[in-house]
Amino acid sequence: MRLNPKHLASLALCLFSQPLAGTEGKEPPTFSEHIAPIIYENCTTCHRPGQIGPFALTDYQSVKRRARLIAEVTGDRIMPPWHADPCDVEYSNDRSLSPAQISLIADWVAAGSPEGDPARTPALPVFHEGWQMGKPDQIATMAEPFTVPAEGPDIYRMFVIPLNRDQDTWVKGVEFRPGDPKVVHHILYFLDTTGKAREYDARDPGPGFRDKSSGGFRYMGGWDIGTQPGELPYGLRWFIPKGADLVVQVHYHPSGKKTTDQSSVGFHFSDQPTSRPWSIIPVPPHFGILQGIDIAAGEKERIERASFVIPEDCEAFSVNAHAHYLGKRMEMTATFKDGTTRRLLRTTRWNFKWQEDYSFKEPVKLPAGTRLDVLMSYDNSESNPNNPTRPPRRVRWGPATTDEMGSITLAVMFDTKERKEATHEALRVFLAHQLIDRLLEGKEGAFGLSGQIGNAKSLEEARRPLLALDLNQDSLLSPDERIPAVQYILQSDFIRRLGAIGFD
Ligand code: HEC
Repeated sequence: MRLNPKHLASLALCLFSQPLAGTEGKEPPTFSEHIAPIIYENCTTCHRPGQIGPFALTDYQSVKRRARLIAEVTGDRIMPPWHADPCDVEYSNDRSLSPAQISLIADWVAAGSPEGDPARTPALPVFHEGWQMGKPDQIATMAEPFTVPAEGPDIYRMFVIPLNRDQDTWVKGVEFRPGDPKVVHHILYFLDTTGKAREYDARDPGPGFRDKSSGGFRYMGGWDIGTQPGELPYGLRWFIPKGADLVVQVHYHPSGKKTTDQSSVGFHFSDQPTSRPWSIIPVPPHFGILQGIDIAAGEKERIERASFVIPEDCEAFSVNAHAHYLGKRMEMTATFKDGTTRRLLRTTRWNFKWQEDYSFKEPVKLPAGTRLDVLMSYDNSESNPNNPTRPPRRVRWGPATTDEMGSITLAVMFDTKERKEATHEALRVFLAHQLIDRLLEGKEGAFGLSGQIGNAKSLEEARRPLLALDLNQDSLLSPDERIPAVQYILQSDFIRRLGAIGFD
């Protein structure tokens, strides 16, 4: 056996815990009384036949067989998957085990994983195999099955499903049902009212089309392995405009066996419109397209920061981070006008495979003037085990999973539609400032700006009006000089062409 640090850790755990368990003279924990309740409650949702977990954890034998590994992955907080560190907020969907549960598992393994009295083992929870939220009002299923090979890299595929709604519709809940849960890793929903998704689909052979990232479609949310479907909180509703197509981006992870997938989305409609206007505040917007992300080959820690001052009172109810394989640290902190701070999300173990919506237990009030500070770090070195490119190469912003992105998104509700619209406008101004920065730097490579700003044919031409505003010619724009600069950018087509930032 090769000894790797993981094995050493579990060896140390055994050597260290065994005498302790004995010397305290306590009865060691048993499977039936102590361990089964933890496993059945926290692991078996995914670790049972037909689900995403690579093996079942459904009885004493199956748990005992992997007891050492279970102590290791729970001790290292690798399982259950949950990547947010404790923060200044509590999350209602927190999957992590308590320190007491973790040490109970360690003690049990150290004591030789005894079963105890089988009669005391609790029954497995009842898992609903069908729709968890009951029968949906409309089921949208992929038109054809998609073949997922046994091996090879992960696949991102977009599927367009016409909803054929002949009227505007309010939706209170969405439930995703993977066709083959062994290979469907996560999905994102979008709505398309432009017909573009159908065009892409028609042009691409085979079911669906190759990932175009968001392709300018309207983001609606997502689903992850282990997501518990439920209604939107606080009486909030999604809006599906009449005639919109559903576009589903599916991330497939080959399972070692060739298979096909034909997933479905179930919609639960509502007679009632949304209780309050709500939307998202992504910092930076559009997954950081104008952030200037440019990471040198081998760079160990590239830090990106972005700050946004919320212009209107709102209440946040969940947070979500997005980066690709090089992402490491993702943090969002709110700083209130009195200088106090509240950290809303922090992960030092960003994992592309587990994209989560972290739902706040209580809504977080964010008065106008609160500043959101985002920090994202990337590791483009060879020592990053998730780095998809070996040897590492320069990585810039882009839609492919081997490119990078970065953004942390708050879901927020407002008292009035005006406040929501003013917030969207402030996000557009934020983008305009980012675009001005990039133009002044003369960096267009990452996002190809030429010809997209007004009638400018080149980057030089697009920059000229900005440089003309720079009266002291220091290639920076003062806050005063920025006012007409922002106007110039907002009047150009570029920001509008990026698509809507939040929800209708
Ligand atoms: C939300 C779904 C989910 C839950 C909940 C979950 N697992 Fe897993 N588990 C997985 C998946 C998927 C994998 C495969 C590795 C991966 O994709 O990260 C895995 C892998 C594992 C492995 C193998 C790790 C390795 O390094 O080979 C162990 C052991 C494990 N899980 C134990 C547990 C235990 C114990 C619990 C509960 C305390 C648990 N899991 C809860 C989904 C889950």
